[in-house]
Amino acid sequence: MPDVSVLDVLLYGEPVGTLTLVQGDRTIFAFNQSYIDNPARPTLSLSFKDSFGALITDIRPTQTLVPPFFSNLLPEGPLREYLAKQAGVNQKREFFLLWILGRDLPGALTIRPADDEAWPPEPDGEPDRQERERRANVLRFSLAGVQLKFSAVKNDRRNGGLTIPATGVGGSWIVKLPSARFERVPENEYAMMTLAAGLGMDVPEVQLINTDAIEGLPEGIGKLSSPALAVKRFDRTKKGPVHIEDFAQVFGVFPDDKYERASYRLIAGVLGIETGDEGAAEFIRRLVFNTLIGNADMHLKNWSLIYPDRRTARLSPAYDFVSTVPYIADEKAALKYARTRRMAELTYDELAYLAAKARLPEKLVLDTAAATVDGFISLWAAEKAHLPLSGETVAAIDKHIETIPLARL
Ligand SMILES: Nc1ncnc2c1ncn2[C@@H]1O[C@H](COP(=O)(O)OP(=O)(O)OP(=O)(O)O)[C@@H](O)[C@H]1O
Ligand SMILES: [Mg+2]
Repeated sequence: MPDVSVLDVLLYGEPVGTLTLVQGDRTIFAFNQSYIDNPARPTLSLSFKDSFGALITDIRPTQTLVPPFFSNLLPEGPLREYLAKQAGVNQKREFFLLWILGRDLPGALTIRPADDEAWPPEPDGEPDRQERERRANVLRFSLAGVQLKFSAVKNDRRNGGLTIPATGVGGSWIVKLPSARFERVPENEYAMMTLAAGLGMDVPEVQLINTDAIEGLPEGIGKLSSPALAVKRFDRTKKGPVHIEDFAQVFGVFPDDKYERASYRLIAGVLGIETGDEGAAEFIRRLVFNTLIGNADMHLKNWSLIYPDRRTARLSPAYDFVSTVPYIADEKAALKYARTRRMAELTYDELAYLAAKARLPEKLVLDTAAATVDGFISLWAAEKAHLPLSGETVAAIDKHIETIPLARL
């Protein structure tokens, strides 16, 4: 394994702490004194705040894995396997994955070797310099999640195409490639994001894009016959990166437990405290919408906070809205609502219970849910034939909607 044992953690380019690899493959995270002492410090994570708002500084060391906040920055599944292989590191040893991927992480975070520590290798064995640089960049880019996806820049020369950058860090779009396992997920996601936007939810710009129009896709991905989805990154702006964290990070849960260790009621509770009625209402809108479309994959990592003023949390724009019922006939949501996981048991009574437990105003929750249901029913009826969805997908969603009590008159 590479000769590196200390990584600097930077937020908006300023050092905030260090990750140290010690004997026994253990990783320790410690904040820098200057960050601890800074009363106006930017927020790294709600998980490092105690109930009085003070910074938590004693963070438990972990073995093989890095502490949950950092573990959640790393890709999972085939994307992790692919990137680890490209860099020649063991995909289980997360300290080294952070070392190779730290230059382009979600949000305003960067991780780099401390002074005197080794830098990640440039891939070699490629005769062409440009190709080498491109691969070096691909291998330094991380967005958590399982799907193959890359950061890309808009390419005006190629008429709305995208380029996976050859040098420097990634661009301000995410390209999500079609899946080998499930058909036409990009079209499905495009359709669901478009419906959500039509219902007034905060949704980033999305585009379906022919994979021929993407320059610089790594080799070995194979021929892709259906379109990819391009999503505008909300953590990249003209003024620089904006910090984000997902709810697995907020709750200090490892990615493997993203379906287990919390509930929508707990997310709603955090949003009520941190973001007030506005964030809570938007959460209810998205929760009801995803139940209606049959998205059984809204786990902890598919909800994020964003810190536009560097300190105060807001609910981030929406992402990863896919109707999963056409692929997997699972009628259970990714997390428990309040008392149940079953989508067919999301009633107004369950929502009232969720509101009470999350200390949200009941009227706000129920009125928002009712307005979302009404809006969805008419928008779906008007749009379903015009969205890029197959007849089977539409039929599967229609069948699912009938099982949802909220959608009944
Ligand atoms: N528009 C966006 N701007 C910034 N970050 C984003 C955006 N969309 C997604 N992300 C980040 O990238 C991660 C992966 O994206 P997404 O959830 O869409 O992909 P995925 O691989 O399908 O995830 P999953 O593992 O849930 O299937 C998200 O968890 C989120 O942190
Ligand atoms: Mg996701």
